[in-house]
Amino acid sequence: MNTATEIAYLVAAASFILGLRMLGSPETARHGNLLSAFGMSLAALVTFFGDEMENYGWVLFGIVIGAVVGVVAARLVEMTAMPEMVALFNGSGGAASLFLGWVVHLSTSPNFFTASTVIMAVFIGGTTFTGSLVAWAKLRELTLAGKRLGGAYTFPGQRAINMGVLIIALLGGVVYAADSSGSVAAGGLAVGILLSLLFGILLVVPIGGADMPVVIAVLNSLSGLAACAAGFAVENAILVVAGALVGASGFILTTVMCKSMNRTLVNVFAGGFGATGGGAGTVVDGVVQPIMAEDAYYLLEAADSVVIVPGYGLAVAQAQHVVREMSDLLEKSGADVRYAIHPVAGRMPGHMNVLLAEANVPYDVLAEMDDINPVMGTVDVCLVVGANDVVNPAARDDECSPIYGMPIIDVDRARIVIVLKRSMGTGFAGISNPLFFRSNTRMLFGDAKTSLQQVVSEFKD
Ligand code: TAP
Repeated sequence: MNTATEIAYLVAAASFILGLRMLGSPETARHGNLLSAFGMSLAALVTFFGDEMENYGWVLFGIVIGAVVGVVAARLVEMTAMPEMVALFNGSGGAASLFLGWVVHLSTSPNFFTASTVIMAVFIGGTTFTGSLVAWAKLRELTLAGKRLGGAYTFPGQRAINMGVLIIALLGGVVYAADSSGSVAAGGLAVGILLSLLFGILLVVPIGGADMPVVIAVLNSLSGLAACAAGFAVENAILVVAGALVGASGFILTTVMCKSMNRTLVNVFAGGFGATGGGAGTVVDGVVQPIMAEDAYYLLEAADSVVIVPGYGLAVAQAQHVVREMSDLLEKSGADVRYAIHPVAGRMPGHMNVLLAEANVPYDVLAEMDDINPVMGTVDVCLVVGANDVVNPAARDDECSPIYGMPIIDVDRARIVIVLKRSMGTGFAGISNPLFFRSNTRMLFGDAKTSLQQVVSEFKD
């Protein structure tokens, strides 16, 4: 590698690190994203024109295909389908690392160290690829043989089978790394590849419902680790750095998600959380009290303090702009308005923050779950916009609930709760919600955007 390339890689690595740091705050996130994109473009350009590049035709072919698919997908994807797209991105990263490891095997006779990194790139990459495809299907809420894929699938002997697959795959890796030439080694690598693909499916299939955020974060981290291993395999420093950064930030995200769900990683991958569905054991009593937009207006208009709790339904309805309009009107009429964001609301990390930022909701009115819960008893009206699992009191009160132990936003402790949703349907975890039957809850049925537009018209009239 010549000095110019080394300097360019250093600049690219610094851009990634600074960009990541800037992503930590909503005010600087946009610039952080651009800076990281600049770093990645620089790294790609320098690699493309570097001394070690060969087969320009094939590389250009790959770049064009990737760019066309990326641009078209990014332009066409509905905002609501972003989480699925992120899952596919993770999977593509895993597949790329798998292929890179494979190419190193085909084109060189790797020494022990390189062979070890090849097998890691292949195994982690393959697991990430198929695991992400299963995560995609779960996020898309596809059904298989009439059963919703979003739930957790468990079967007898599952853990033993998973462990067996992992051990055989690792043995294949050891055989390959011990002597990476010859047909025995190739067989070891083939076993590693096939079983990693199988392991990805087996790993994610038993996890479902409310545990999905942790899975997404883990897959994100694994895609980085696979890229890092591939970077070592092809001796490319910037790939090592980029992969390590993704791996480390994914790991931090995983710990944040585990903390948000009050779960350990072992618990999550042992399966079972949210596995039963149907809210087994949750006692749902009381009557549903539906209201009209006009009633909601009167309740809101009389409130001194309002907390808005967005959930996945806000994304589906694309109601972020009208929520902002309504909170402006509320503030004008003298109410104190805050937004309470649950870390796993929506379908991807930071989902609600992204939507609210798009509507220019000021950051200082956003409150974290831990800050808002202690004062929830003093709130006049809590407006739940398309949230369900993250405000389900069964998670706090009902030991038999499949999501028992998951921290929630305690909206039921506000004086009045107005829930905006279209029906009595369940959320992602597929369990019933006693909140909807509480005496202080009012249900405003309908699409969240339409309902809020009606409330806004009442304010304007
Ligand atoms: P959910 O529990 O999924 O509930 C969303 C609710 O929105 C549904 O009950 C739905 O009820 C309502 N809704 C849908 N479209 C609507 C519309 N147009 N207008 C009004 N309401 C609408 O959402 P949540 O409370 O945000 O919880 C997130 C769940 O997803 C958790 O279980 C979490 O573990 C899981 N999850 C999160 C992530 C990440 S990383 N955040 C990733 C994967 C899974 P109706 O159909 O009756 O309208």
